[in-house]
Amino acid sequence: MTNIPEGDLDYRAWLQESPLPRAVPEAARRMAVYGPADDPLLCTAAAEWGRAVRAACGESPARLARDPGGAPSVPCVAMGLLSAMPRGLREAAQAALAGAPSDEAYAILPVDGQGVAVVSRTPAGVLYGVFHLIRRLRLGEPLHEPCVSSPKNAWRMLDHWDNADGTIERGYAGKSLFYRGGQIDFDEGRVRDYARLLASVGVNAIAINNVNVHETETRFLTEAHLPGVARLADVFRPYGIRVFLSINFASPVDLGDLPTADPLDPRVEDWWRATADRIYRHIPDFGGFLVKADSEFRPGPFTYGRDHADGANMLARALAPHGGVVIWRAFVYNCLMDWRDRRADRARAAYDHFVPLDGRFLDNVLIQIKNGPMDFQVREPVSPLFGGLSATNVMLEFQITQEYTGQQRHVCYLAPMWKEVLDFDTHARGPGSTVAEIASGRLFGRPHGGVAGVANVGDDVNWTGHSLAQANLYAFGRLAWDPSLDPAGIAREWARLTYGDDPDVVRTVVGILMASWPAYEAYTAPLGVGWMVNPGHHDGPNPEGYEYSKWGTYHYADWRGVGVDRTMATGTGYTGQYHEPMRSLYEHLETCPDELLLFFHHVPYTHVLHSGKTVIQHIYDAHFDGVEAVAWMIEAWRRLQGRIDPVRFERVLARLEDQMQRAVEWRDVINTYFYRKCGIPDARGLHIYP
Ligand code: GCU
Repeated sequence: MTNIPEGDLDYRAWLQESPLPRAVPEAARRMAVYGPADDPLLCTAAAEWGRAVRAACGESPARLARDPGGAPSVPCVAMGLLSAMPRGLREAAQAALAGAPSDEAYAILPVDGQGVAVVSRTPAGVLYGVFHLIRRLRLGEPLHEPCVSSPKNAWRMLDHWDNADGTIERGYAGKSLFYRGGQIDFDEGRVRDYARLLASVGVNAIAINNVNVHETETRFLTEAHLPGVARLADVFRPYGIRVFLSINFASPVDLGDLPTADPLDPRVEDWWRATADRIYRHIPDFGGFLVKADSEFRPGPFTYGRDHADGANMLARALAPHGGVVIWRAFVYNCLMDWRDRRADRARAAYDHFVPLDGRFLDNVLIQIKNGPMDFQVREPVSPLFGGLSATNVMLEFQITQEYTGQQRHVCYLAPMWKEVLDFDTHARGPGSTVAEIASGRLFGRPHGGVAGVANVGDDVNWTGHSLAQANLYAFGRLAWDPSLDPAGIAREWARLTYGDDPDVVRTVVGILMASWPAYEAYTAPLGVGWMVNPGHHDGPNPEGYEYSKWGTYHYADWRGVGVDRTMATGTGYTGQYHEPMRSLYEHLETCPDELLLFFHHVPYTHVLHSGKTVIQHIYDAHFDGVEAVAWMIEAWRRLQGRIDPVRFERVLARLEDQMQRAVEWRDVINTYFYRKCGIPDARGLHIYP
């Protein structure tokens, strides 16, 4: 059974299959593969090249017989393993790859003027190189331009928050691709197409179930369900993607096997060892466990008076003999807080919990840290746990799914935000100690590192609900591979691959994408304060929705001012978790960047920003400007009518028009809220509802 909508252009995403409007180079029409003929990844690489060429010019490339002794005699695309390449090519590729740290690195080399070789030490690297060559083909770039590309991050992972009942926690694009009615039940062709999309941007790992592990998913570790997990792993394997499971720390108890889940109890350790052994019998390349423990009511080692290192290491010992890893989340905080206690601060929690444990985690444990200290708000500072841990493997967690950034009803291209995070200098080891250097493991010489993103896909025909949200999935993979890439450049590449070469289309799509995060930030919660959303589903404005709740998410707006005092001098002391000079920069009003002002300080509405505006005037202006930006997007998109196929055109237009109404609601609710609080009118005299 298949429900793949073959003809839907959004379905093909950035792997479009339209004929190319230009000649396909001769060399592209022939290929040779070097390496074991039955290697699944090499087979995938060859099949993908064949498919791309067939789509581009209507003809499959000719497959040349392999002659291990010599280079191909006619110009072709020669792809393969370094060890299997003919001698001349091998030497050139060896030299090219010599400085590439990762085994997944690939080299693209010109061969005798017209041909091109794609070479890697591993089959996965060949596959990534071939996908790069496909990009070049579609973009009309010279195929044989020499290049070497090595992924900066060893783990490039997607975390699915999918539940066995088919729902997706914080999902905005339909139902799960993996589950139906409490079972692992999927359309193989669709999942394969998903794997292709992921591999084409370098993703190499996937956690297939929600970090909140409910009753059914707890049983994924058992004989009853492992064959299903294995079937999914079988689909992902030829694309170089390893499968992980989110696990319930209380599994030994919840599955009825033991009276305890105490990580220091030998019976518990044995239980997990036997469980790991069983999983690896079904899935020999299983990635490992993703764990949310002692967080938002999930069980964990605290129940037994143990700490996170005790819990993570026990699991790590079970996985180590098989080469698996434990990804243990740092999203741990007290979610039963008291809003009356202004000294308590949720932002401090991850650092306070994990820094004392630094150095105690085993080498196959990674601590997965959300980009900010709170929870994926549209604007947060970078989590100080980056740079706080130096003797522990870490992994950076982004949220691709737009829980707090418009739920895929608003366009919000997140790559510029992610880029700011990756480039942030923690100064942990002096200047240049960026988050990108820390997450990759390089700064502190760690054996593991990586970047994870919470997936934004579901079974909607266009994968992501909003077609433009595909750009976030694309950009996530590209940045996880190479954090030095420029978000606008990624947007341009995505727009061209997705919509073709028309320069007006590309300019407009890139313009909309690049304007979208600033616009969303402008008409929602101001200056880093966050959280003015409706509780529960987190959609739409509600300035006091979380103000008096237990979740630790306050902005403290009153008639005099707004913001959270997180200084060492008079506030929660959170600024002290940063290294200098960031600590002082955030501590002092004079140096704190405007966009984070209310995250770090409580100020009167008349406080003057670096921009020269008062806080209240900034709030008003930003909210009007943000809505204007959406109006511009609609106008710009409308001008593309007739230049984009009608189906894709209308889909995006409908979303943008809906976004407009939502943006107006945000503007009016937030402006009115602050106007009523402070009574200061808008200097421009624009209409604010009293
Ligand atoms: C957010 C989100 C939850 C999720 C949690 C997490 O709080 O709203 O749905 O479970 O993050 O990251 O664990």
